[in-house]
Amino acid sequence: MVVVGIESTAHTASVGVVDESARVLAVASDMYRPPRGGIHPREAANHHVELFPGLVTRALEEAHARPTEVDAVAFAQGPGLGPCLRAGATVARTLALVWDRPLVPVNHCVAHLEIARAMSGLDDPLLLYTSGGNTQVIAYGSGRYRVLGETLDIGIGNFLDKLWIELGGTFPGGPALEAEAKLGQELLALPYSVHGMDVAFSGMLTAALAQSARGAARTDLAYSVETTAYAMLTEVTERALAHRRKEAVVLGGGVACNERLRGMVRAMAEGRGAAMFAPERRMCVDNGAMIAWTGYLALGEGLSVPIEASGIEPRQRTDRVGAPWRRAGTAGA
Ligand code: ATP
Ligand code: FE2
Repeated sequence: MVVVGIESTAHTASVGVVDESARVLAVASDMYRPPRGGIHPREAANHHVELFPGLVTRALEEAHARPTEVDAVAFAQGPGLGPCLRAGATVARTLALVWDRPLVPVNHCVAHLEIARAMSGLDDPLLLYTSGGNTQVIAYGSGRYRVLGETLDIGIGNFLDKLWIELGGTFPGGPALEAEAKLGQELLALPYSVHGMDVAFSGMLTAALAQSARGAARTDLAYSVETTAYAMLTEVTERALAHRRKEAVVLGGGVACNERLRGMVRAMAEGRGAAMFAPERRMCVDNGAMIAWTGYLALGEGLSVPIEASGIEPRQRTDRVGAPWRRAGTAGA
């Protein structure tokens, strides 16, 4: 079985190809990088529309698959930026029509979780999903992924991106801040905002910018922001691990690329006798393979849709969609 996945929820246009064992046969991606400031949805969508034809060709070549060998086409239905989602959905509908194959809508957040889980080989871990727009602690229960805790304001990645841009950098900020943080020496005081299993970042953004205006070094700011924000995430993950009595935590989403976050969650998990897994970096950031793999799981449950029912869902939440393939597994509720 060969499934093609189309990802276009935000900055990245990506086409992935996987087989029934979650083997990644190909990923062809291109990220829209605004010359300055944050992402303008229509400009990102224009980028995707221009790039997709070449990405589809490249992915099929890399997978050594002919269109006649493709069994289904999956696409990210939401959440995401409307114009960007529409660009990917249009490509997916066209391919499904032309190739005469089932079309499978996929939730982008669930796709981050499923590819991370597949790569981990773990059946029922706690999941820490940290990306641009999302920051959630998640566990599976009774047919769907349940959000145990999340950000009360902005996603951790958007927070890092915004801070970096305000400090004079360009999008994406996460990787640049990671490099800068390695040079930091002084831990500056920043608001530590944990509320039960939820977190918040906008107060830290304001405080960090105020420190910057008072002359704090960018390296120290980066170091302090990473230390404080990742400690918050580690704390809520530990609380969820303890309450849910999980034996493993799996990281997913773009911010899971971060070495510091990986290290802090690993140390916490190992201290509790639990396992920790983070996928290779190209599977943490937005990619078509995670959409293809989740599409494969959904197809097994008969979740393909006719073209006319394949509308995008810009606000579709992780816990608003089912994960019926999990019922068939050994994972309990
Ligand atoms: P979402 O899943 O919420 O829709 P997204 O679509 O914005 O998120 P992802 O590719 O999952 O995109 O994550 C992108 C985010 O990851 C960006 O905010 C980026 O700065 C951040 N990021 C990438 N690499 C790193 C890193 N090494 N350290 C910290 N953050 C990182
Ligand atoms: Fe994402």
